[in-house]
Parts: sequence; structure tokens; C-alpha cells
Amino acid sequence: MNKILLVYASKKGMTETLAELIKEDLGQIDLVNINEKQADPKLYDKIIIGSPIYIGKIHKKIKAWIQQNQDSLLSKTTAVYLCGMNFNEEKQVIENNFTKSEINHLFIKYLGGAYRFDRLNFLEKFMIKKITGESQSRQEIHQDVFKELISYIQA
Ligand SMILES: Cc1cc2nc3c(=O)[nH]c(=O)nc-3n(C[C@H](O)[C@H](O)[C@H](O)COP(=O)(O)O)c2cc1C
Repeated sequence: MNKILLVYASKKGMTETLAELIKEDLGQIDLVNINEKQADPKLYDKIIIGSPIYIGKIHKKIKAWIQQNQDSLLSKTTAVYLCGMNFNEEKQVIENNFTKSEINHLFIKYLGGAYRFDRLNFLEKFMIKKITGESQSRQEIHQDVFKELISYIQA
């Protein structure tokens, strides 16, 4: 029986929603919000990491956790899902936020994202409206990537 850890950070809740959907699909896994608890990847066989993207960057606690645990993560089955809305910047975001060995050894993909206007402050609403022209809440989940991630972890 493989022990699976899913560690994530989320500011507006969508990375957490995706974590819960993954847990629903995989069954028995340990879900850890990095802002609430420590997580030791050495205690697990397989690791899933979830991070939101804000202004092109992954969450800083997730970045630090990946750096701290790099050897362990590179030696195991590790998948990183990114939660963001600019899917066309996926390649650039991955290149800017991950090392070459992480890119070569880990599964790293945009899984989906959301604009939740009810949870944005005035400035965030203003930015999103100005940059994207959008003002309604909506969410997207890439079902093909979702399936790929599940198969990667189950393999
Ligand atoms: C101020 C702001 C900046 C954002 N910048 C990016 C970005 O650079 N790239 C991207 O793909 N998505 C961007 N997004 C979309 C978020 O990644 C998206 O809302 C995601 O669902 C956030 O995850 P969370 O709900 O777990 O915090 C941005 C959203 C906001 C509000």
C-alpha cells in the first residue's frame, strides 16, 4: 500500500478545492495545508504538491518546502499541480519557478484555476478586471491533466 502525501497552499481556496477533488479520487491520502502543519515527505512513497500562481510565481512556502526537501522529492514519484488562470503562460511559469532537475524529474502542470470575485479585495478585483476584462466568478479544471495526474500517481 503506497502512502501518499498532498501538500498545498491556497490563498482564495481553489488550490484547496483541487486538493479535495484529488483526495476524492485517490482515496486514502494525507492532505496538509502548509500554512497549518508541517509535512515530511520522507514518511511517504508518493508526493503531490499544489500551489497557486500569483503574478507568475508559486507560493513562497511551497517554494521553500520544495527546496528543503528536494533530494527526497527527486527520488520519489512527485507531481506538482499549479493553480492559475493564465494557462498559456504554463511553460514560462514552470521555467521561472522550477530548477532544471525538477522540470526533468517531476510531473509539473497547470491543473486549473478560478477567479472568485467574492474573495478578492478591491485592488485584486481592479487588477483582474484591468488585465483580463473579466468581472464574474468562474473556475476551470483541466480534466485531461486531472486524469494524467491521477494515473501518474497510481502508476
Ligand atoms: C492578483 C492576482 C494575480 C494573479 N496572477 C496570476 C498569474 O500570474 N498567473 C496565473 O496563471 N494566474 C494568476 N492569477 C489567478 C490565480 O492563480 C487563481 O485565482 C487561482 O485560482 C488562485 O489559487 P487560490 O484560490 O488557491 O489562491 C492571479 C489572481 C489574482 C487575484
